Amino acid sequence: MTQPFPVQNPMGLLIGGEWVPAQSGQTLASHNPATGEHLVDFARGEAEDVDRAVAAARAAFESGPWPHFSPTERQALLLRLADLVEANAEQLAMLDTLDMGSPIRHTRGSVAMLTDLLRYYAGMARGIEGITATPSNPALFACTVREPVGVCAAIIPWNGPLWASILKLGPVLATGCTLVLKPAEDASLSPLMLGKLALEAGVPPGVFNIVTGLGTEAGAALAAHPGIDKIAFTGSDTTGRAIMAAAAGTLKRISLELGGKSPNIIFADADLDKAARMAVVAAFANSGQVCSAGTRLFVERPIADDFAAAVARHAGALRIGNGLEPATDLGPLVSARQLARVSGYMEEALREGAGAVCGGARLEDGAFGQGFFFPPTVLSGAADAMRAVREEIFGPILAVLPFDSEEEVVARANATPFGLGAGIWTGNVGRAHRLGRALRAGSVWVNCYNAIDPAMPSGGVKASGMGREYGKAHLDEHLETKSIWIATD
Ligand code: NAI
Ligand code: MG
Repeated sequence: MTQPFPVQNPMGLLIGGEWVPAQSGQTLASHNPATGEHLVDFARGEAEDVDRAVAAARAAFESGPWPHFSPTERQALLLRLADLVEANAEQLAMLDTLDMGSPIRHTRGSVAMLTDLLRYYAGMARGIEGITATPSNPALFACTVREPVGVCAAIIPWNGPLWASILKLGPVLATGCTLVLKPAEDASLSPLMLGKLALEAGVPPGVFNIVTGLGTEAGAALAAHPGIDKIAFTGSDTTGRAIMAAAAGTLKRISLELGGKSPNIIFADADLDKAARMAVVAAFANSGQVCSAGTRLFVERPIADDFAAAVARHAGALRIGNGLEPATDLGPLVSARQLARVSGYMEEALREGAGAVCGGARLEDGAFGQGFFFPPTVLSGAADAMRAVREEIFGPILAVLPFDSEEEVVARANATPFGLGAGIWTGNVGRAHRLGRALRAGSVWVNCYNAIDPAMPSGGVKASGMGREYGKAHLDEHLETKSIWIATD
């Protein structure tokens, strides 16, 4: 262990305000992907643990102090939690860096944004409102009230564990729902620490429960559980389909954020230097393990080769290493499994005739050999039909795809099952507006990429998912609308 670890070993499940072992007594191990070092063990929750957690969440939703919390009290609770996250920012950032490899500069920045996100939800707790209608029948008064959906489940991935946990918990606390969270088996530590901070903030027992474990065990049990009113999932489209099928049996409300294969489109009239620097961030931040990564880099043909070279030059300047080093820009991939997956896509692309302008194979020299490091990779000569250009890789690989006309690039950018994000780089404001409308994606960024704000909804179209997170739309996902009619005669 290179750093002090603010947790007990093994870490328990959080059920009904208590830390408990899995009923089976089994645990899973957490590893540092930069070194292979074993960090800590945590409970391997299964179906019977999910049953207990759902029962606790149901009890907390229906009785006890939580249903009587006023909007003011829910706001105060969220503000206390934000303060605690801020006060423990360094430990939280460190946990994510140790557990899933993301550079400490990146995880510190995330905690700062997440504190702000919690404060946004704190404000939203005061902004829940219905309508007063004007029925044509004068003997009737009619209004709507918004009520919490109930017991929520959230299943989250490993690429931003604290981020995903706070994004799921914030609207639950703002609206008066309760939550059972299933972190990813590759990155459960910061979600568990969030549980500890939530108890400290005064979140009543059972309002926030955490069942760590495997997707096929704890995750599948949650998705099928009849005691859950709503499930939110972030992860792969394959697992999203399985969760939707499981949720159908009990008619749960469902929201899915399933990643993508986002186009980032460069026109010759753009600020090309900025576009090249940002194309690197868009594709390689978090070692490419970002749902909206701009991995299909469409570039106008006359500038394509020069632009690819500029991207490779900026990528080459990124410092790859252990995320604990303050100067590190890119850490390792999360796991041996992810490294094998990324390497597999790469090898197939090379076999099919693509070339690597930079990168192309795992780093193995010296200390790199102990971890799961893959360098930023720019593919040239790739075709739209290749699997590496069609499927989400979730690693630092982008393909440069030359195009000849605006019409063509819109058609090719949209020729994907996904639709999460899209980038446009141009100096032509008319084109920015035209493409902003024509691209089928949940978010379009013009002369920027991955811009984010608590007040702006984010989510996918097509196979990238359904529902929106952030903003008022996110609160709506957690609220039912009840119509109340009163006869006045
Ligand atoms: P995954 O989608 O299988 O895992 C995400 C979460 O779902 C984890 O908590 C996992 O335990 C859970 N899970 C897995 N199977 C489940 C099931 N049958 N029922 C309920 N929950 C289940 O992703 P995985 O296997 O870790 O990564 C594989 C690929 O998925 C990546 O290479 C990437 O392409 C994609 N992915 C996309 C993410 C995104 O944000 N778009 C995040 C993570 C992975
Ligand atoms: Mg780990």
